[in-house]
Amino acid sequence: MDKSTADTLIQSALDAQKRAYCPFSNFPVGAALQTASGRIYQGVNVENASFGLTICAERVAAGAAVAAGDREFTAIAVVSRGGVSPCGACRQFLAEFNPNLPIEMVDSLKPSEVHHATLDQLLPGRFEGPT
Ligand code: THU
Repeated sequence: MDKSTADTLIQSALDAQKRAYCPFSNFPVGAALQTASGRIYQGVNVENASFGLTICAERVAAGAAVAAGDREFTAIAVVSRGGVSPCGACRQFLAEFNPNLPIEMVDSLKPSEVHHATLDQLLPGRFEGPT
């Protein structure tokens, strides 16, 4: 992805991160997902007193895009302390729509240090459905 796209997505993910609902982990995550239409869908982690119901920022962003009828995912930025990479569940969820999705991972405390990967690097041999 070009630098200006990456910068736009990272800024959007940093903006979203402020709205994370994470009273249990105190680990806010922001995501910004771009589609072929050029639109950007933000996501944040949404936690719950019943911990297992928590939804990651990446899946919230993906759900927002799909709900808007925008399924052609082209890039995602994920921002957190330490710049973590998407969990296994989110990798599988995103791969449904683009198994080669470019991913920018950013430490919110050092936003200029960007780690890049593609989804196929993070999730080789994904489950593609029942045979
Ligand atoms: N989390 C995300 O939102 N995305 C990730 O990629 C990793 C984990 C959230 C889930 C939970 O609210 C918190 O981070 C700690 O695991």
